[in-house]
Amino acid sequence: MRSFLLVSHTVKVNGDFSLNSLAGDHGRIDILCHVIKNCFLVSNGIRTDTILYIYFATDKLTIKMDGSSLKFINPDERSTASIIRNIFKEFTSYQVTGKEYHPGITLYRWSIEDILKSAKVSVIYLKEGGGYDPLSEESLFVLGDSMDLSADEEKIINRYAINTVSISPISLHADQCITVIHNRLDMYKTH
Ligand SMILES: C[S@@+](CC[C@H](N)C(=O)[O-])C[C@H]1O[C@@H](n2cnc3c(N)ncnc32)[C@H](O)[C@@H]1O
Repeated sequence: MRSFLLVSHTVKVNGDFSLNSLAGDHGRIDILCHVIKNCFLVSNGIRTDTILYIYFATDKLTIKMDGSSLKFINPDERSTASIIRNIFKEFTSYQVTGKEYHPGITLYRWSIEDILKSAKVSVIYLKEGGGYDPLSEESLFVLGDSMDLSADEEKIINRYAINTVSISPISLHADQCITVIHNRLDMYKTH
C-alpha cells in the first residue's frame, strides 16, 4: 500500500469557488486536482493500492481518498474540482465528519498528527535537500503543496518520520513528486 499526505496551506473548505478560477481567492485547488490525478490515475484505470490524505491547514480538516473504492475520477481538472466542490458544499451545509461524501472520499476532523499517529506504515518526509532512500512500498510520503511545510508542521512530522528524503536534485511540484515515487516503486516491482 502506498500512501501520500499532501499538506494544503491555501485551500479553504468552502464550496463557493468557481470552476473557472481554480487558483484564485479560494486557494490552489488546481494543485489538489493535479495531485489527485497523479496519485490515482493511470492510462486505463485507477491505482487501487494507493491512499491520499489531504490536510487542509486553514480549516484543520482532512479528506482521505482510498483508491480501492474511489470512483468517477477523470483526468481533466474541472471534473475533479467539481467533485471537491460538491464535497465542500455538502460539508459546509451539514458539518458532518467521518462521512463518505463521494465513493472512496471521506472527510474527517483529523490533524496532521492524527494521520501520522494512525499510520501503520513508515512515515517518510519528502524535502528538497534531504537524504537518499531507496523507498519502499509500505510508506506514507508527506509533502507540501506550493509552499513548504511550516516549522510547526515540520516539528510534528519529524516526530513520526523515519527519514527525510530527497527524490531529485531538482525542486519538483507536488504532483511530480508523486509520479516519480509511483514510477520508482512500479519499477522495483518489475525488476
Ligand atoms: C512545489 S514544492 C514546495 C515549494 C518549493 N520548495 C519552492 O521553493 O518552490 C512542493 C513539495 O514537494 C516536495 N518536493 C519538491 N521537490 C522535492 C525533491 N526534490 N525531493 C523531495 N521532495 C520534494 C516537498 O515536500 C515540497 O514541499
